[in-house]
Parts: sequence; C-alpha cells; structure tokens
Amino acid sequence: MEKLVFATNNKHKLSEIKQILEGRFEVLSLADIGFLQEIEEPYETLVENAFEKARVVHAFCGLNVFADDTGLMVDALNGAPGVYSARYAGEGCSFEDNVNKLLSELSEAENRIAKFQTVIALILNGEEHHFIGEVKGEITQSASGNEGFGYDPIFKPDGFKETFAEMDAKTKNSVSHRGRAVQKLVAFLSSKV
Ligand code: IMP
Repeated sequence: MEKLVFATNNKHKLSEIKQILEGRFEVLSLADIGFLQEIEEPYETLVENAFEKARVVHAFCGLNVFADDTGLMVDALNGAPGVYSARYAGEGCSFEDNVNKLLSELSEAENRIAKFQTVIALILNGEEHHFIGEVKGEITQSASGNEGFGYDPIFKPDGFKETFAEMDAKTKNSVSHRGRAVQKLVAFLSSKV
C-alpha cells in the first residue's frame, strides 16, 4: 500500500485520518518516520506555515506528505489570534490561558463573529496542492463543555446551540474546519487511487 506521511504527532488527528484512509494509504506519523525535531511556523499565513511543515518533512523522508495548520479568526480583533492561535496567551501557555485571554479581549465586544480555518498542504508525487476548510460561528460569553480541545468551549458554530466542546467528536468533525479540509483532501486522494 502507498505510504503517506501526516506531519503531526497529534494522536487524535492521526487516528481520525487513519480511519478515513484505511485500506487506501498507509498513514505514517512523524514518530513513525523518525522525525523528532520541532518544525518552526515562521510565516503569517496558514498556507505558508502548512507548506513549510510539509516541505521540511518531505525533504527529510522523500515520501508523499501532508501537513495541517489551523487558526481562529475573530472579527472584532481584526482576525486575531489567527496564525498565533496556539500561543495567543504567550509561549508555553495552556488552552485555558488562551480561552481566558480571548474572553477578556472580547469582554466589551458586541460583535462576536469568528471562524476557524484549517489549511492542509499536500506534496504528492512532487506536486503541491492545498485544501481549505472553514466553519463560521461566534465566541460565547463564557466557556462551556468538556469535549475537544483548544477554543472549543467558547466556539459555537452557526446553526448550533452548543459549543464544539459540548458536541461529540462525530458531530464536531461533520461541520468543523478540519473535518471539511480533510474531506477535500480525501476526495482528492480518492480520485488518485
Ligand atoms: P494546529 O495548527 O492544529 O496545531 O492549531 C493551532 C491552535 O488552534 C491550537 O493550539 C488550538 O488552540 C487551536 N485549534 C486548532 N484546532 C482547533 C479545534 O478544532 N478546536 C479548538 N481550537 C482549535
């Protein structure tokens, strides 16, 4: 079976993708290929950061590879935290620190519109492709729910009464930014095998 590297060590993301591509691609993690370094995300766009990760890993192993990068863009903050979503409250901060910072930045805001965006960068047989998944919604007044991770407790997608953290994984994946980007990746890969 053809090997495909997913440039991550996030177990949750890996098992999701493995399940979807089962029988079509042998999905390998960074640990599986012996890639142990941290990869910098030095750029100001998700597309550039995702391709940086994919190219670094491709140069390391020569295999087909894809990488993802995600950001939360808040209207009232002119698109912040965006590419800085992981370290919004500072280097080494926790998900809870980020949630608290965002709630405090928005304490006076009436416009709470936000969106999540995921970019998946793929290098397949030496050619580059990318896929974008988005979900629009709003930042709630306070955190609720224990599922998921990151900003899930304060993000309520349009058309739902619950935050992402109040949904089961299957429901979240069916509408989420990453779920949508993955669906596009899978449709593309399926057309190739
Ligand atoms: P990454 O590029 O997938 O590592 O995402 C960067 C940051 O965005 C994470 O550290 C989280 O804070 C946030 N994030 C990414 N995906 C999600 C999600 O599905 N729900 C909530 N927060 C997320």
